Amino acid sequence: MDRVFSIKPRDGKLLVLLPGMGAVATTFIAGVEAIRRGLAKPIGSVTQMQTIRLGQRSEMRNPLIRDFSDLCPLDEIEFGAWDVFEDNAYEAAVRASVLDRYLLEQLKDFLQTIKPMKAVFDRSYVRNLDGPNVKTEGTKYDKAQALREDIRSKLSETGSTRAVMVWCGSTEIYLTPGDVHESLAAFEEGLRNDDPQIAPSQMYAYAALMEGIPYANGAPNLSADSPVLEQLALDNEVPIAGKDFKTGQTLIKTILAPGFKTRMLGIKGWFSTNILGNRDGEVLDDPDSFKAKEVTKAGVLDTILQPELYPDLYGDLYHKIRINYYPPRGDSKEGWDNIDIFGWLGYEMQIKVNFLCRDSILAAPIVLDLALFLDLAGRAGMSGIQEWLSFYFKGPHVKKGHVQEHDIFIQHVRLKNTLRMIAGEDPVTHISEHYAPELRSEA
Ligand SMILES: NC(=O)c1ccc[n+]([C@@H]2O[C@H](COP(=O)([O-])OP(=O)(O)OC[C@H]3O[C@@H](n4cnc5c(N)ncnc54)[C@H](O)[C@@H]3O)[C@@H](O)[C@H]2O)c1
Repeated sequence: MDRVFSIKPRDGKLLVLLPGMGAVATTFIAGVEAIRRGLAKPIGSVTQMQTIRLGQRSEMRNPLIRDFSDLCPLDEIEFGAWDVFEDNAYEAAVRASVLDRYLLEQLKDFLQTIKPMKAVFDRSYVRNLDGPNVKTEGTKYDKAQALREDIRSKLSETGSTRAVMVWCGSTEIYLTPGDVHESLAAFEEGLRNDDPQIAPSQMYAYAALMEGIPYANGAPNLSADSPVLEQLALDNEVPIAGKDFKTGQTLIKTILAPGFKTRMLGIKGWFSTNILGNRDGEVLDDPDSFKAKEVTKAGVLDTILQPELYPDLYGDLYHKIRINYYPPRGDSKEGWDNIDIFGWLGYEMQIKVNFLCRDSILAAPIVLDLALFLDLAGRAGMSGIQEWLSFYFKGPHVKKGHVQEHDIFIQHVRLKNTLRMIAGEDPVTHISEHYAPELRSEA
């Protein structure tokens, strides 16, 4: 395949900027440092662990993705973060209690050097949270400019040549785009007027895009998912991706549901409930923040199962999702799924899944992969929404008129074929190598 992309070489260090330095962000930062020091392995990271097949299977060309795609090595990563709390990354990681103290003590010297910048925060958007480390001066416009200034200072302070931003902050209340999101002029006017439709996560996304920095949204927040910021990403030639990291129950759902569908097994009901006790759970205890989460979680089954095409199998599916804040569990979430399926002649069966899950352990490698892939996309000149990164999200951000893809296996094929295409390699179609030439000549 001819190369359609020319990729700018890596020319220095990559700064990974994290709005929100809680459980996910600190597990990511500490994890990268532990791996750099040879204390642990990057399990769960596609960029670090996975190979990519090139050409026919028999050619045995299977390089690691990180080498094949010339991704930024972990040694060239720097970190910057904002948070509402003043805790440095060591203190925040201890508080989050995801990683054990023994590991954190070994990384303490490094983690203590990462101190959060003052956040742009407003309790109207995250009601169950409050902290002192916030920007208080001026309008939303002034605060967005202050974020841009933070980005520039952090780049120079860390000696980095480029940056990516991955939102790891809390889930904000559910918002939908309005008039203020129609154009850059309206949005900036809205910032100057402190328009309530503009939440902090939108201001971080705006600041990143104005600075030409790729942006990924790990929460279900509206953030960059609006006409104005989509257009800004295109105009400034910056890649964006979202939203809401696909971990835990939704990950399992997008693994199981495609399996049932390929076998044409019907599903009558899918009830998912869980208990979790971390700060994320506390924030989601507010119904308006939960609403944002529910929307990204609920769409998954419908798009995978396509009840409109398979009414006999999925037309009456009852899908229910519950999230329950239960402090004793901390970050160790427990999820229960009850799936009522039916087979030949309509005979019913049940599947129960009990997942004792560690949310941030599943999310941290996603932050790493998104940072490295968005850096690659930026260097390859790919701008706007990066649908090929849907693999990582519960609610993939897609272009207007496009249908979200939730099937993790289709998402995975698309991710890898995009990497092949960026490098000028043929996509893998999985058509048998013996038949492919005949099929081509008949076509
Ligand atoms: N853990 C997972 O598996 C997972 C999966 C999908 C999505 N998410 C989302 O990722 C986000 C982070 O999850 P977490 O478990 O680390 O939560 P957390 O509560 O531990 O961390 C979030 C941090 O963001 C900070 N914050 C909130 N608003 C901010 C703002 N405007 N600016 C700067 N900092 C801000 C909070 O003070 C907190 O320290 C949440 O939105 C969560 O819903 C997490």
